[in-house]
Amino acid sequence: MKKFKRYLVTSALPYANGPIHIGHLAGVYVPSDIYTRYLRLKGEDVISICGSDEHGVPITLKARNEGVTPQEVVDRYHAVNKKAFEDFGIAFDIYSRTSNKIHYETASDFFLKLYNKGEFIEKSSEQYYDEEAGCFLADRYIMGTCPHCGNENAYGDQCEKCGTSLTPSDLINPHSTVSGSKPVLRETLHWYLPLDKYESWLRKWILEDHKEWKTNVYGQCKSWLDQGLQPRAVSRDLDWGVPVPVKNAAGKVLYVWFDAPIGYISATKELTPQWEKYWKDKETKMVHFIGKDNIVFHCIIFPAMLKAEGSFILPENVPANEFLNLENDKISTSRNWAVWLHEYLIDFPGKQDVLRYALCSSAPETKDNDFTWKDFQARNNNELVAILGNFVNRTLVLTNNYYDGKVPARGKTDPNDNSVLNEIVRLKENVEASLETFRFREALKEAMNLARLGNKYLADAEPWKVIKTDPDRVKTIMNIALQITANLTIILEPFLPFSMEKLRAWLNISLMKWNDAGKTDLLKTGHIINKPGLLFEKIEDTAITRQIDKLLATRKANEASATKIVPGKETVTFDDFTRLDIRTATVLEAEKVPKTTKLLKLKIDTGLDIRTIVSGIAEYFEPETIVGKQISIVANLESRKIRGIESKGMILMAEDKDGRLVLVSPADKVSNGSIIK
Ligand code: 2FM
Ligand code: ZN
Repeated sequence: MKKFKRYLVTSALPYANGPIHIGHLAGVYVPSDIYTRYLRLKGEDVISICGSDEHGVPITLKARNEGVTPQEVVDRYHAVNKKAFEDFGIAFDIYSRTSNKIHYETASDFFLKLYNKGEFIEKSSEQYYDEEAGCFLADRYIMGTCPHCGNENAYGDQCEKCGTSLTPSDLINPHSTVSGSKPVLRETLHWYLPLDKYESWLRKWILEDHKEWKTNVYGQCKSWLDQGLQPRAVSRDLDWGVPVPVKNAAGKVLYVWFDAPIGYISATKELTPQWEKYWKDKETKMVHFIGKDNIVFHCIIFPAMLKAEGSFILPENVPANEFLNLENDKISTSRNWAVWLHEYLIDFPGKQDVLRYALCSSAPETKDNDFTWKDFQARNNNELVAILGNFVNRTLVLTNNYYDGKVPARGKTDPNDNSVLNEIVRLKENVEASLETFRFREALKEAMNLARLGNKYLADAEPWKVIKTDPDRVKTIMNIALQITANLTIILEPFLPFSMEKLRAWLNISLMKWNDAGKTDLLKTGHIINKPGLLFEKIEDTAITRQIDKLLATRKANEASATKIVPGKETVTFDDFTRLDIRTATVLEAEKVPKTTKLLKLKIDTGLDIRTIVSGIAEYFEPETIVGKQISIVANLESRKIRGIESKGMILMAEDKDGRLVLVSPADKVSNGSIIK
């Protein structure tokens, strides 16, 4: 493995338009913090960079909805998120922000360098514009009917019902989600980075030179590259962001995904005047910690930008994680389906390490994973309390009881003692190998195996019994248990920094170096330790039930407010309306259409005639319950053959928010064939 002189660790800059939740922590920030703490312990030259991503359309929309400025929105969440990271011990060297002056300068300079090198394509194109809101619309902010499946809530870039990729012009009845109005096409000028120009270089750099990248990352890159890269616009028509620093660019800013990764550079500049050694020297190993939705930006677009600029290094690795779900459901800010860090700390004060532990243990490293409160409780009670806490507590309490806190001398060791002592080195090496390859779950498991080893050692050796018969032997046992405990303060430090700080205070030692781990004389004979407290406490069922109840209440509230209001349709003329023959009718007979689950064949009296209509309502009505009901129909709809049956007309139904169909019937009985107008 190549040895690097220094490390530059970056963690995805979270958008400053909402608070941080456990999904962010598990996917990006806990792994990046573990990795950085490990490198610091190794004595490496490492800096960890993060900050708020403060641009982009969603921030402007949030500001508009709240009637405040975008700056006010980002100020609020920058402060909230900075504090949340500090509270959880995510020890960045800097938590900067992209609304800083230094970032504006860095991003402008970066753009200008590419511009002056002739790296951009300048191109005018027609884009959708919301005349009412006075802004161009990103594809996501246009909705309409999917031409493939008829879903009336398809987005301008994708229909989430049938999964088809769309462009806004594919949509039937497109409307702006900002104002509701119908968008119009307008000519606009933008700058494009010709990614196609970098395709073959990217293919080699990723697919040949970085076969060691995680399979989820490598696979996603390969699929992007196999589809072929297109020029990508790096500017937008918006009044919030870094202004495009050239002439003819009034009202245009850098695309948020162009300026955000440059934020890593500006934050480094803000941190240290020596920033260039981290960004421009090939002896630096740069690692980007991100979630899977950021892969293309960090593996393809940003590297192409860096390559085009020419003087920067490229990432050595991008250990992106998949997503964390919560209690079997996708974490969602808008549905409030999340565990927010600040709320967690209110409910579980002082238990940062428990969450760090639970999230690392079930981190979505290779596939999406699920966080459940029951698992959280089990990790705490069965692992942190029963194994780690129990071992440490026994060791420290017995040392205080037997020797007044003075570390006893290790006498003659037996083969079991020796194998335990040897195991310390082996486990340390395993943890190291896993951390170097970004397998954090495995690393934590191996680190906890050291606590397991200690716990088992004490349980087997039973010093509390042996003390009565062979007190000298107990000195050896306790010395070994104490050496394991001291080793734990190093090996578990990256994962459980708060608890290891406590443990160091009880052991009366300072933080050691990673390479001290494995040594079996970390605590010298005669060293005095302090009285311990409890490292972890049991979490009772009531605390867990409270969290689950909270989520159930959220789900209920979501269901209640999920009134699916389908956007209004295009205006029709009165003539259009009168061409429809809508009238009342009565169901005379009903039967299921054989071999179907949804279709009913109905014989109805329309006042004009007796006819057959096939309707997709079998899921909602048993045939016998519908017979005799007065309904409304479109009588002059072109007849259609459905399952070989001629269906003449359509029954009118109201679709409730949950998709349930209800008959539309006149409030009072009227004669069949009455016109509805
Ligand atoms: O997905 C996100 O939350 C983005 N704000 C991440 C940006 S990472 C970097 F490029 F700044
Ligand atoms: Zn569709």
